[in-house]
Amino acid sequence: MRIAVVPGDGIGQEVIPATLPALTALSEAFGLGISHDVFDWGADQWLATGVGLPTGAIDRLAREYGAVFLGALGDPRIPDMAHGRDILLGLRRGLDLYVNYRPIVLRHGVIDLYRENTQGLYAGVGGSITRSGTVTVAIDECVYTRKTVEDFVRFCLGRLGRTGRRKVTLVHKSNAVPNTGSLWQDVFRRELEAFPELVGSEEYVDSFCYNLVRDPTPYEGVLAPNLFGDIISDIGAALMGGLGMASSASICPETNFALFEPVHGSAPDIAGKGTANPYAAAMSLALMLDHFGHGAAAGLLRVCLTEVAGSDAATPDLGGKGSTQQFMAEVTDLLKRKTSVLPDTATP
Ligand code: NAD
Ligand code: IPM
Ligand code: MN
Repeated sequence: MRIAVVPGDGIGQEVIPATLPALTALSEAFGLGISHDVFDWGADQWLATGVGLPTGAIDRLAREYGAVFLGALGDPRIPDMAHGRDILLGLRRGLDLYVNYRPIVLRHGVIDLYRENTQGLYAGVGGSITRSGTVTVAIDECVYTRKTVEDFVRFCLGRLGRTGRRKVTLVHKSNAVPNTGSLWQDVFRRELEAFPELVGSEEYVDSFCYNLVRDPTPYEGVLAPNLFGDIISDIGAALMGGLGMASSASICPETNFALFEPVHGSAPDIAGKGTANPYAAAMSLALMLDHFGHGAAAGLLRVCLTEVAGSDAATPDLGGKGSTQQFMAEVTDLLKRKTSVLPDTATP
């Protein structure tokens, strides 16, 4: 299996290279046959050539690769993030990765947060009118098609049901944003009928955020439209101990193509210091291994990451003294030690 690796900008260029040796070690130990190619899409290329996502990139990815592993995009030299939208939203929309899984891993258990990833306020519908250099009208439309909401909700409910979850909450804002809000409610209620094992509830996004911070323990599965899911995933990261902890998988259920990336951005405030926490990026690799049916390798990676995250080799945000590199070097060593004593691990 081939992976397209896009480190991107800022700490993306630190956390992604740091995690790759662990992937190689796992691929060798478990005989997974995973290889990767690195693509330098990001701010430098955009500034030098004006190219974000190169022409033909989507077709090539779909044809030659099974997944993308991405760091982050964002650079202070491009304040409007035009390159980031072109590359990141281009990949999500171009590959139809409409399911974005962002697990919130807490002491009491995991909240399975699913964010719709291609439409809503991110649909790219809108425009602005400029007079004498000043924007006088600005419009970003929130667009949802019933098909995408149905496909998203059905896929997420299916996964929640199969993994033994019992409660699922739809997050919406139908009191103020009634059109897309009630479309989501209608689809959610109808699709739930096919999953008698799941108990559905609905919460306004403002009240949901309040409840989640006060007490996250009642939640098991959460479905959210695009922008709400984006915001909730950063709140979830704060509950997990920081943005360095939160991983994600963006999936196209029809093709099984997927993109794995940490929830965090390029963190210009710490970029270049070597202190970025690689845990979220490495946990995104664990999601990738799970996605392609390599559960044992994913489990071992999680065990090693958890062990090193509690040690001095962890990065300062976790109370350790390590650098990005040292953290992942420890994890890779630990993986190698553990796999060298496991019998029959070379069998795929
Ligand atoms: P950010 O997630 O980059 O950083 C927010 C805060 O969290 C910062 O203080 C940062 O130092 C800290 N942080 C983030 N990741 C960390 C890690 N791995 N280890 C330790 N600390 C970490 O959000 P921001 O500052 O709002 O955005 C910076 C740039 O990234 C912007 O250009 C934004 O558009 C972009 N962005 C990109 C993505 C993406 O590519 N998926 C996601 C979010 C933001
Ligand atoms: C994320 C980011 C992106 C988003 C930005 C950088 C476009 O915040 O992946 O969480 O809003 O989806
Ligand atoms: Mn975000």
